[in-house]
Amino acid sequence: MPSSTAPAPSDAPPSRPGAKELLAFAYRVAADAELVTSLPLDPQGRTWIRLEGPGGSEAWLIGWPPGAGTGWHDHGGSYGAFATAAGRLTEQSLAARLPTEGWKLLELADGIDRERQLEGGNGRAFGPHHVHQVFNASAEHAVSVHAYYPPLPMMRRYHRSGQVLRLEQIEWAQEWA
Ligand SMILES: [Fe+2]
Repeated sequence: MPSSTAPAPSDAPPSRPGAKELLAFAYRVAADAELVTSLPLDPQGRTWIRLEGPGGSEAWLIGWPPGAGTGWHDHGGSYGAFATAAGRLTEQSLAARLPTEGWKLLELADGIDRERQLEGGNGRAFGPHHVHQVFNASAEHAVSVHAYYPPLPMMRRYHRSGQVLRLEQIEWAQEWA
């Protein structure tokens, strides 16, 4: 068969990136010292650069001054991955699948809290029901790479008091534009 009839690889439709690919992307970008150091840092708050994620995913390079954090949130049904490129971040997450709709207050079961420290190029992938908060508890600036697929349609923000999680706000992607 003449090779000229074969479609060029660039003509192939992009495949949906899996969580592993998003994490590989996060690791790859986290190791790109030139890009990581190009991020402007602000001691007063987070800074970010939008990146081109693999396969149409949404990706960000984010700078975290000491004390900066996200608060509890989910990712609107997207899955994703992130990796620390500089410094150290703390992730607290819930090892339970929460109902996504129809509640304002939820009493969390005991024993579902997880905490991990991410530094030195370490990262993690997460599924579409992941609820977490990420913060910089260290005394140094941290930089991380995040990727989500599908691009975040919305995020639910939660307030947590003890074992009670309260839905506080739904942020839609249009509001970030
Ligand atoms: Fe998140």
